[in-house]
Amino acid sequence: MGVRKRMKDQGIGNEFRSEMESLIEQLQEALADAIRSTDDRPALPPDADAALQELSEPLPHEGCGALQSIKKLLELNAKAGANTGGPKCFHFVMGGSTPASLAADLLATAYETVTYAWIVSPVGVRMEIQALNWLKEMFGLPASMTGIMVTGATMANFVCLAAARQWWGEQHGFDVSETGLAGVGQMPVLTSGFVHASTLKVLALQGVGRANIQQFCRDDFGRLDYPAMETALQELDDQPALMIVNAGEVNAGEFDPVSDMIHLARRHNCWVHVDGAFGLFARVSPRVSHFVEDVELADSVTVDGHKWLNVPFDSGYAFVRDHGLMSRAFRYTADYLPPVDDPRPTLGAIGPESSRRARSFAVWATLKAYGREGHRLIVEHCLDIAQHFAAQVRDSNSLELMASVTLNIVAFRFNPGGLEDEELDKLNQKLGESVLADGRFLVGTSKIGARTIFRPAFSNWRTREQDVEEFSRVVNELGQGLL
Ligand SMILES: Cc1ncc(COP(=O)(O)O)c(C=O)c1O
Repeated sequence: MGVRKRMKDQGIGNEFRSEMESLIEQLQEALADAIRSTDDRPALPPDADAALQELSEPLPHEGCGALQSIKKLLELNAKAGANTGGPKCFHFVMGGSTPASLAADLLATAYETVTYAWIVSPVGVRMEIQALNWLKEMFGLPASMTGIMVTGATMANFVCLAAARQWWGEQHGFDVSETGLAGVGQMPVLTSGFVHASTLKVLALQGVGRANIQQFCRDDFGRLDYPAMETALQELDDQPALMIVNAGEVNAGEFDPVSDMIHLARRHNCWVHVDGAFGLFARVSPRVSHFVEDVELADSVTVDGHKWLNVPFDSGYAFVRDHGLMSRAFRYTADYLPPVDDPRPTLGAIGPESSRRARSFAVWATLKAYGREGHRLIVEHCLDIAQHFAAQVRDSNSLELMASVTLNIVAFRFNPGGLEDEELDKLNQKLGESVLADGRFLVGTSKIGARTIFRPAFSNWRTREQDVEEFSRVVNELGQGLL
């Protein structure tokens, strides 16, 4: 009997209840397989595009039922699912999931938890506040900062810059969230060349404009030209401005001079925002915490969970010193919604999303399960892995380190000798494509100045020394094949 007929004959409620029941066994098996195979699935299955062609079919009229559709999904995922939680994914900056966070996240979905306001999930909302309090403790941020969970660092930057823009308007005597930006001048935005693309996107979305950012660079890597920034601030003569400090850039994991910039901002009329999407985790280990000294003095801070906290996608956090600015920027009221002064929190009224999933479950569960110490060990494990890989590069005759290894990213290139820089750029670009086509590792290329580099980022507890040793062998092997 077709699904539509059963739904009609037995009623949707009866049909779906019995279908859910029969799904449980299939789901248990699929989850066990997914989790157990994480170390071994290819990072990127070859020919994923070809395998996905069968996705393009017309909308089914009848439908095949849940068991069949999930079976098909598993088949497609086996052929074309990137193993981004696996030990051999070094692309972008991606973490794995700790056992507690993965289990909690699955439960958040199974319980269909919504964390818009206390009334729809007392536990999800209170857990979010508690988990954010723990994160503040772990990162040494002031307890008085207000936090909010969002989809990732892009949206955390969005929250922080919306608060900054609100502050800037209020400094000029108007409420940006009410009157908008039309007819007023532009908020000055100052940063280094390390600024992340997501900040530019946010400036575009918030009507400030990508091109309105001033980047002060002393070299072609983008390192801060501090004197030039200082002069620009002096010229602003105490007009309010936004300073963006980049704690961890994506090509080599370098930092802006966080403490110096924050103190410079404090001597001028600046809102100082720190993008610490992954770099803020330096705070967790005494080995590297000096890179983010004084971050607690910032007005707003971005950090990601799906990077180095090792919780499932998607999960990022914004922390803002002035709660009032967040609630004015994100005000959300209607007669059917909870009142603004409700003593029970309405998280949907201090951030961009109204309905929102319970990211809190995973964050709370991992911090409860492993504590400050467990998370320090995850961070230091990745620092060690980065150093171990850097040692492989140094020991190889055909790999070359392209920057010193500050944190968890190793910038390097394949350099067999005898080639000019421009030839090496082309070779490494091609090699980047070969590595992805090979599928054993998922890793990206980028540029430092004009030079093409590989930039593996290590942020997953699963990655082992043997994985990075194999990675250096694979790059060598594929590189030699291109000569
Ligand atoms: C410094 C920095 N900021 C922001 C982002 C954007 O993060 P997400 O993809 O979580 O939105 C990233 C991502 O790599 C990043 O490294």
